[in-house]
Amino acid sequence: MSRIVYLNGDYMPEEEAKVSIFDRGFVMGDAVYEVTSVLGGKILEFEGHMARLERSLSELQMVCPLSREDWLAIHHELVTRNELVDGMIYLQVSRGNAGDRDFHFPPAGTPPTVVLYTQSKPGLADDPKAKVGIKVISIPDLRWHRRDIKTVQLLYPSMAKMAAEAAGKHDAWFVEDGFVTEGSSNNVYIVKGSKIITRQLSHDILHGITRASLLKYAAEAQMEIEERPFTIAEAQAADEAFFTSASAFVMPVVEVDGAAVGTGKPGPVATRLREIYLEESLKRTV
Ligand code: PDD
Repeated sequence: MSRIVYLNGDYMPEEEAKVSIFDRGFVMGDAVYEVTSVLGGKILEFEGHMARLERSLSELQMVCPLSREDWLAIHHELVTRNELVDGMIYLQVSRGNAGDRDFHFPPAGTPPTVVLYTQSKPGLADDPKAKVGIKVISIPDLRWHRRDIKTVQLLYPSMAKMAAEAAGKHDAWFVEDGFVTEGSSNNVYIVKGSKIITRQLSHDILHGITRASLLKYAAEAQMEIEERPFTIAEAQAADEAFFTSASAFVMPVVEVDGAAVGTGKPGPVATRLREIYLEESLKRTV
């Protein structure tokens, strides 16, 4: 069965969804996106993802084309039409079809291109990797300096994932000025003693929706949080490491640049935080 996708107001089979060759998302990477998880047919962290979408668009002087009610209705319609149980909904808004290639933004009022589609991942919350943890390499952070805007400019993160795979590992952590910024598609943390350490929010990292909720739940559970940058050496000497993202939730990291972190197995803090995160966010689905 082919997927039913959403394009500019209409639902259609994926094969029929066509976008102009002049679309600014295609020629300029001039588009923003969100990835929202679905578990048991219900949407996680909806308000958080919509708030970030609105912010990304406004930082790029784009008008948010739909209300939160409309976005939610489309998410629900796609879940229903595709009988989605576990997986993700991908949402992208580009600056639209400028009629020709031009560095200047098209005139105000040019309609954006709005695309949403589902990605089915049965058993998304039971990823076996969460039981054994993942291994990462570090690479220089060569991305632009507005990483807080969730743009579709993902070439460097793709290259980072390919470099990790070539090294026989799962992911790459970006390093800038001697400190870890974030993972190729996730926010990263270490645990030392009783402290959970993660980089503070700035233009240097994406303001993860999973990160925000996780820090809130951790604080509610009386866990100690320190928001500051850390180095690869600190991560290698930490008791535990982990990352968060909408599609992986909380994922233990057991090796950094060939050195085992802690025991080399998922630690109690990451394991507990994964449980807490899933438990709490499942209470808040829409
Ligand atoms: N990636 N940092 C980067 C660079 C990311 O691409 C992501 C998300 C995150 C985590 O943000 P959140 O918790 O809101 O998912 C941090 C998504 C999942 C993706 O590109 O598929």
